[in-house]
Amino acid sequence: MILYFSATGNTRFIAEELANRLDDSTVNLLKRIREKDYSPITSEKPFVICVPVYVCEIPPFVCELIRKTPFEGNKNIYFVFTSGGYSGICSTMAKRLARKKDLNYMGSADFKMPRNYIANNTYPELTEDEIRRRIDVSYKLIPEISDLIRNGQKLVKRSKHVWLFEILITVPFTPVWTRIKQGVKKFSVSDKCIGCRKCASLCPVRVISPDADGKPVWDAKMCAHCMSCIQNCPVEAIDYGDITPSKKRYTFGRYDFRKQKK
Ligand SMILES: Cc1cc2nc3c(=O)[nH]c(=O)nc-3n(C[C@H](O)[C@H](O)[C@H](O)COP(=O)(O)O)c2cc1C
Repeated sequence: MILYFSATGNTRFIAEELANRLDDSTVNLLKRIREKDYSPITSEKPFVICVPVYVCEIPPFVCELIRKTPFEGNKNIYFVFTSGGYSGICSTMAKRLARKKDLNYMGSADFKMPRNYIANNTYPELTEDEIRRRIDVSYKLIPEISDLIRNGQKLVKRSKHVWLFEILITVPFTPVWTRIKQGVKKFSVSDKCIGCRKCASLCPVRVISPDADGKPVWDAKMCAHCMSCIQNCPVEAIDYGDITPSKKRYTFGRYDFRKQKK
């Protein structure tokens, strides 16, 4: 069973392609995350958890769901990470999660995809060519990863090695960064908003509650900065400070070559 969370579609794409090749089913975890639904999940096939990397880690709301949900049936668990190129300490976290759940950790795989984080200026925007190139390279990696999973082999050679210094830096850094840099005060919505409430319905941590006109209001709770609201707004009415107005929006759907094939 392929379980995934995806804010802008990269991870969903990888999850669906793995499921296709493995003749397996996908489960979008968004609803479970939003509803804090920790009811058991059963699968005869190995569990494959597909998630984006957030600040060098597995997103905390995904960790919480995996930790609290009983996984029944198959005892093997694989992890698949999509990132902008650096998956930080995710594989170490995955190994720990598996151990705590008494499941066999079968390794992890990294897919370098277009970066979806647009709320800071650390990295230059990717060109259209680079976006398509990353998607293409990742797509070509899917047969190798799915063959290993189908044959019950470990992905260990595919797992990024995590150095001790990375753990020592990341563990204290991530919560500080998240607290300082990932507030909600800078989110704004313009008059372009059509009140469709899509942003609120996609927010994994329910930080957005629409007002009477359906316009988003971010409350002071901790936001994951997943970019789902900004990137998926159908009229690009949402911005973050003065950082995003000039930036192009990204969702995988805009580059989904599978749609053109149909
Ligand atoms: C809050 C946040 C933090 C991120 N941190 C990292 C990171 O540490 N390393 C990295 O390579 N990419 C990072 N990214 C980029 C995403 O991991 C990447 O674009 C991913 O493929 C998005 O998946 P999705 O489209 O399924 O949501 C971050 C994105 C977000 C929203």
